[in-house]
Amino acid sequence: MWHPPLAFPVELVSLLRGASNLVALTGAGVSQESGLRTFRDAQAGLWAQYRPEDLASPEAFRRDPKLVWDWYAWRREAVKGVRPNPGHYALAEMETHIPGFTLITQNVDGLHRMAGNQNVLELHGNIQRVRCADCYTFAETWEDDTESVPKCRECGGLLRPDVVWFGEALPRVQLEAAVEAARSCEVFFSIGTSGVVQPAASLAFAAHNRGAAVIEINAEPTPLTPKADYVFHGKSGEILPRLVEAAWG
Ligand code: OAD
Repeated sequence: MWHPPLAFPVELVSLLRGASNLVALTGAGVSQESGLRTFRDAQAGLWAQYRPEDLASPEAFRRDPKLVWDWYAWRREAVKGVRPNPGHYALAEMETHIPGFTLITQNVDGLHRMAGNQNVLELHGNIQRVRCADCYTFAETWEDDTESVPKCRECGGLLRPDVVWFGEALPRVQLEAAVEAARSCEVFFSIGTSGVVQPAASLAFAAHNRGAAVIEINAEPTPLTPKADYVFHGKSGEILPRLVEAAWG
């Protein structure tokens, strides 16, 4: 799709051209134009009666493992058919221009890697991976019946998606790498995230406190907006390609 050129401040364009260390933090808004609902959007169809927060927790899994398994099976199917959008591809191109590029994502859909980004930290896991809730063994395949949650072949524990649920710790290695990248970057993008879920939300503030230029691209204002050096309200799939074009086109 052709978009009229958007004028970006010259200082921003030269900041991007000269950047050696850059972080892009993304959230569900980046995948919205691929057809995936954002986390805080209303649920569809059968699942409309539940809030994601009530399905994505260890308590929910303990209470009703089959309900949680089925919700993730439904989401896994939804993700299978989707493709990266121009926002994802623009971030993949950005990585080719910046020596120290780190993409930190809260998304579990795997679309950044599919678009070509290499240095990706998945803070909240990946919905396509399944592991045992007890012994952590990963499962590539499992027997799906309609009555119960599939079991681990190693220990008989219940299988669950390898995603971070509310109340669970983030993967330590990824989180440490994300904090380090945020503290040492010169430019920090916050894109398509409501900025309300910790610790991901605090990364932008850490970067800002260390003197990084903070750029926010979001459909609407967020708690980060007042601190950001540059704010673009709109769709990341439209703004990012134009920004990459302006800086490196
Ligand atoms: P949210 O659903 O909270 O926020 C998505 C943000 O994207 C909102 O601020 C929207 O305004 C914005 N948005 C929507 N469409 C957009 C577009 N096309 N371009 C740009 N912005 C757009 O999603 P996250 O911030 O990712 O965690 O939510 C963070 C975490 O909350 C999720 O990873 C999930 C949830 O708790 C866990 O499951 C652990």
